[in-house]
Amino acid sequence: MLTVAVLISGTGSNLRALLDAAADPGYPARIVVVGADREAEGFAHAEEYGIPTFLVPWREFDTRDEWGAELAAQLAVWQPDLVVLSGLMRLLPPAVVEAWAPRIVNTHPAYLPEFPGAHAVRDALEAGVVQTGASVIVVDDGVDTGPIVAQERVPVLPGDDLHSLHERIKPVERSLLIDVVRRIATGELDLAAASTTS
Ligand code: GAR
Repeated sequence: MLTVAVLISGTGSNLRALLDAAADPGYPARIVVVGADREAEGFAHAEEYGIPTFLVPWREFDTRDEWGAELAAQLAVWQPDLVVLSGLMRLLPPAVVEAWAPRIVNTHPAYLPEFPGAHAVRDALEAGVVQTGASVIVVDDGVDTGPIVAQERVPVLPGDDLHSLHERIKPVERSLLIDVVRRIATGELDLAAASTTS
């Protein structure tokens, strides 16, 4: 059974989907802890499932490295097989990435390498594209530059705003994420190999 730590910053709808999937005895992964950089709404999903949570408040640290060191210390307590960034809106410092790579994946609401960064949905709308997408990548030291392990196109429709487009992307992200974690757990997806071949 693959053990997973999930890191969030917001509502945690992708986390929720993963928790729901992992509640199926046939699903080969279990979420062991949920962490966040702020008092995230998504903690409520973890609490509902009786999953432990930890908070490493971004605002209470002077530097990204200090924040990252505490985050790494918290993760080390749980020793998960995999870390999932599911809407964590902070860049991890290199030391944390190095400590966990290639066992960290990130969900992103765009068809990478298109629209990396924190405003992917807004950027796609502003670019006037007719399709964007969702991706799951292995985290590396860049901003959404790691190897892509799953992605799917999502149409941008006339009249879309930030909310409507993001709400169309999120279900796609959820199914990609659930499938990626399942494939990692079964050995069908080898993150080390994915990281060396890209
Ligand atoms: C998701 O769309 C995720 O891909 C995005 O934040 C949202 C979190 O939603 N992450 C990024 O943009 C990271 N660059 P959720 O909290 O409801 O799962």
